[in-house]
Amino acid sequence: MRGATLDIFVFRRAGTKAVAGRLLLLDDCPAMKEIERSAAARPEAKVAWVRPAVAALEGYAPGEQPMAGSRVIKLNTNENPYPPSPAVKPAIEAELDRLQLYPPPDAAELRATAGRIFGVDPEGIVVGNGSDELLVLLLRTFVEPGAGVAWPVPTYSLYPTLAAVQGAVVREVPFPKNFNLPAGLNSVEAALLIVCNPNAPSGTAVTTAPLCELARVRRDAVLVIDEAYADFADENALELVGAEPNVVVLRTLSKSYSLAGLRVGFALTTPAMARELHKVRDSYNVDRLAQAGACAALEDQATFRHNRDRIRATRSRLREQLLMRGFEVEPSHANFVLARKPARSLEGLVAELRCDGILVRWFASLPDALRITVGTDDEIDALLAALDRRASG
Ligand SMILES: Cc1ncc(COP(=O)(O)O)c(C=O)c1O
Repeated sequence: MRGATLDIFVFRRAGTKAVAGRLLLLDDCPAMKEIERSAAARPEAKVAWVRPAVAALEGYAPGEQPMAGSRVIKLNTNENPYPPSPAVKPAIEAELDRLQLYPPPDAAELRATAGRIFGVDPEGIVVGNGSDELLVLLLRTFVEPGAGVAWPVPTYSLYPTLAAVQGAVVREVPFPKNFNLPAGLNSVEAALLIVCNPNAPSGTAVTTAPLCELARVRRDAVLVIDEAYADFADENALELVGAEPNVVVLRTLSKSYSLAGLRVGFALTTPAMARELHKVRDSYNVDRLAQAGACAALEDQATFRHNRDRIRATRSRLREQLLMRGFEVEPSHANFVLARKPARSLEGLVAELRCDGILVRWFASLPDALRITVGTDDEIDALLAALDRRASG
């Protein structure tokens, strides 16, 4: 197998970079040529005026997004394989005639709709340009440069990059083998704790009781519960919103509402916390089209439930099929599974699947694992057939 590797780096803390992912590109794979071309075009100039914390960063490497029209099966970035509510398009179209006007700065209508759907006080909601923007706002609002931030690992690899930009000191606390909440979070020095639940990339989830306990033990810190995948789980922490003054629950429309391209997320917390976050955000951080599309999607709970249920059913089938093929797969509470072949690097397999037109995610920090987004049944059948071909070939 001839080829080259392309490393994807993340920063654990300012100045220390770790390989987060690596694409192994095979010589006979057309994708190789595309990447070579774009790498050759990239200039290497240094910028003298940049902050050291930023200069030290490679920047977050999101999962590959193929060009529009590429015929690939995309199981690498946990998007929803089904289209959003049919009500979204007309709602966005209706706003096209008002693009000369700024959007509502307080997103009042969207907050009211979200408050009703999530069962929380709209005054305690901050809408973001995706939940990634809300993570930035949380760090800027609650973490002085030099202060600590902590989360269990392995987890969402964007957190360290955002923390490094803020000049925060990252303190990672390893998950135990069973992926319960690590006891170290009770005492780690941190102004802000983030628990991704269900967790990416493990797909595991903790129940609400230990999160509630953590919020109470850690009244000295803000506890962010990143629920990007909670709609695919059996439990969520919405009951803590407003009840625990230091809790912020993050939700997104990118996954369960099929709107990754629209960029809408919600921070759900107390009105007092929301007021502080509003001071830090851009006045018009969520555009007019996004606000309208998001309202329409939230109102259509039937489409949301239908898609969520299909994904949960396919997730069970995918897990069973992977187990039959010798992978170890924890039950997942998200719209992806983590499939492992302990002590074997699956880097080559990812490259082979890529040449079959199937993208899955591989992390250098978890070399024996593939993170596979739950696609449509047809997409999952194609993946399983490719795995069988590769195993016998
Ligand atoms: C754990 C987690 N949080 C947040 C996000 C970002 O969501 P959004 O698209 O709303 O920015 C992702 C996206 O993959 C994620 O995996």
